Amino acid sequence: MIVVCQHCETRYSVADEKVKGNRFLARCTRCGNIFSAYRPVSVQQIEFLDFAGAKAAKRANIIAVSNQKGGVAKTSTTLNLGAALAATGHKVLLVDFDIQANLSLSLGVREGRSFYDVVQDREPSLDASVRPTRVPRLALLPSNKGMILLNKKYFHAENFEYMLIDRLQSITDQYDHILIDTPPSVDLFTLNALTAAGHVIIPCQCDFLSTHGVDQILRLIKMIRGKTNPWIQAQVLITMFDDASDASNMISQKIQGMYPTQTFVGRIPYDNKVKEAQIMGKPVMHYDPDSKAGQAYTQLAQEVRKRMPLAAVI
Ligand SMILES: Nc1ncnc2c1ncn2[C@@H]1O[C@H](COP(=O)(O)OP(=O)(O)O)[C@@H](O)[C@H]1O
Ligand SMILES: [Mg+2]
Repeated sequence: MIVVCQHCETRYSVADEKVKGNRFLARCTRCGNIFSAYRPVSVQQIEFLDFAGAKAAKRANIIAVSNQKGGVAKTSTTLNLGAALAATGHKVLLVDFDIQANLSLSLGVREGRSFYDVVQDREPSLDASVRPTRVPRLALLPSNKGMILLNKKYFHAENFEYMLIDRLQSITDQYDHILIDTPPSVDLFTLNALTAAGHVIIPCQCDFLSTHGVDQILRLIKMIRGKTNPWIQAQVLITMFDDASDASNMISQKIQGMYPTQTFVGRIPYDNKVKEAQIMGKPVMHYDPDSKAGQAYTQLAQEVRKRMPLAAVI
């Protein structure tokens, strides 16, 4: 079968037996673009493979922030890393993929069109639902109550894991980074985020059960690699680190020992300024630029830029 990259229009001949199912993800070895491809069943269906006009000047780094454990700073990391990347001059989109809408609330957004509305109104792109925030270069796709219906209606429907990446395709040229906040569960939202992402950041608090949580999500990522996203890379981020606590130091060392190349060098310290900033609806480095957590997220943005470089502009 012939598969055409939507980005650089390179054509590939793919052996039929290499592809399971009628729909699959493909990566262009020429330009690195990841795209949904379809097995044409008849000549008529080949005609629907019309990628003209889909050329993009650049593509965003898509990063999921995920851990099945709650309260480990997934939402705080999505918000503050996003703001820190925006401060470096990059354009960033935050996707609130948690029905609790904590990310939207942390940015002072109480209502807005969510991914639910995009799907419900059969919009091919997220564009109309994305809104600017008070932070320059930082945009948000909010969450709302309707999101719960998506999980009920589509979880386990055929190809439900591709719902997000399909709708991101047309806007990836508008951003440098797309950060997706996920819920503490393996549901439609987590599986869509992990299918769309090139990287996953796993925030990990230094408590007794944290290594178990990391192990759990790494097992899920392994499953995702075999099923919908062979290219996803994982990186552990130690959060709420307390330098003065022996337990915090012991667990941090243990995590670094277990995942030496997969742990960020930068750690996010425990800092009440994160909570205060959240109450004020601001990223922590805007609330208090001198705060320990604000500075740590600013440094993390540099590490992310180094470890997860932007795709080459063509
Ligand atoms: N570095 C930090 N220092 C202190 N408190 C933090 C820090 N990061 C997050 N928190 C607080 O911990 C709680 C859980 O964080 P949150 O980001 O909502 O976690 P999750 O999204 O994983 O459930 C929130 O009240 C948040 O304000
Ligand atoms: Mg959260």
